[in-house]
Amino acid sequence: MLFFKKKEKVNFSFMDIGLTADVHSHILPGVDDGSPDAEESVAILEALHERGVRKVIFTPHVSRSMFPNKADDLKVRFTEFVAGLPESLRSDMRFHLASEYMVDEFFAADGDRLCWPDGKHILIEMSYYERSREIRDTIFNLQMDGFQPVLAHPERYVFYQKVVNKKHGVAELDDFVNAGCALQLNVMSLTGAYGEPSMAIVRWLLDHDMYSFIGTDVHSRRQIDHFSGFQITSAQMDKVRQLARQNETIFG
Ligand SMILES: [Fe+2]
Repeated sequence: MLFFKKKEKVNFSFMDIGLTADVHSHILPGVDDGSPDAEESVAILEALHERGVRKVIFTPHVSRSMFPNKADDLKVRFTEFVAGLPESLRSDMRFHLASEYMVDEFFAADGDRLCWPDGKHILIEMSYYERSREIRDTIFNLQMDGFQPVLAHPERYVFYQKVVNKKHGVAELDDFVNAGCALQLNVMSLTGAYGEPSMAIVRWLLDHDMYSFIGTDVHSRRQIDHFSGFQITSAQMDKVRQLARQNETIFG
């Protein structure tokens, strides 16, 4: 008889997650460091479709210094891109345009806000290497404005990887969740590709039910082939599947 101990790591793959709705992706071509052209974007969408994904939120980076995308421009590009997709994808998938906003000194002033399809959740990020000084005020102010902030991939920030404690995790992430900020896990992070400190954050956040959503954060077709061999336990995988179900609620 097969018997898996709850704490034993099992090799899971992308399909095991049951991800049908992706809330974080860089598929809209030519607007950030994600897909460079429509051909690559179609290849990404086909690969996601083959793996069971039916709803996709495009979340191009928006930051005044690196990717100064304007909401109106992104809307035009999005409409054109979706209209040009092969019928096989267009008829079987749903697409939505949002953004991934860099929290910096310009964020508060740049008023355009492209949210997830519920019109409430807004994806924010920081530099991997430098904590945003404005992050706490941003989380507070967005909620005051009626939004629900979602911090992208907390496990990827190097300044949290440096301070993660196996037992107590990362104090500031605890604060964020208590302050009403949702956290979004990256699929790729489950593979251990970002190192043990990142995995320590993943395990701690999963074990304490602190993530709310999961996203591919896909930037290229090739990346999808590396979404496998997840270094987590069966109990943690159950929680990841729960996140995938939670993603669906965003589409109503
Ligand atoms: Fe991203």
